[in-house]
Amino acid sequence: MSSNNLDQLYRQVIMDHYKNPRNKGVLEDDSLTINMNNPTCGDRIQLTLKVNDGKVTDAKFEGEGCSISMSSASMMTQAIKGKDIKEALKLSTIFSDMMQGKDYDDGIDLGDIEALSGVSKFPARIKCATLAWKAMEKGLKEDEQ
Ligand code: FES
Repeated sequence: MSSNNLDQLYRQVIMDHYKNPRNKGVLEDDSLTINMNNPTCGDRIQLTLKVNDGKVTDAKFEGEGCSISMSSASMMTQAIKGKDIKEALKLSTIFSDMMQGKDYDDGIDLGDIEALSGVSKFPARIKCATLAWKAMEKGLKEDEQ
C-alpha cells in the first residue's frame, strides 16, 4: 500500500473512533477514577477502570477534546480491556515510544492503535494522543502500590 493510501486508511480509523467512540461512559461501584487534562489546550478526560485480580476487567471514558485525543481514548480502552496490569502498562510504553518516533516493540498486535503512529510527526499533537494513556498509567500504577 502506498504511504498515501495508508495515511488515508489511518485517518479513517481515527475518525471512526472519534465518531463512534468505544467504551464511552462512566463505570460505577469500586472503579478507579482518573481525571486528567491537557494543559496546553484545557481538554480533559475522565477515565474509569475496573481492576480485579491484577486484570483490567472494564474501562470507560468521558471527556472533551480533539479527534486525536478522543479517538486515542477509545482505542486505549479497547486495547486494555481484559489485559493484565503489566500488559496494559507495556502497551502504554509501546505507545509512548511510537509517539516519540522511536522503534517500538511490534511483537504485540496493536490493532487500531497503529493508526495513530503518524502523530509522532506532529509534536504539538503528541499530548493529545497520550492524554488517555497517561491517565491509564496513573490509575494502574497507583492501584499496584
Ligand atoms: Fe486538546 Fe487535542 S487539542 S487534546
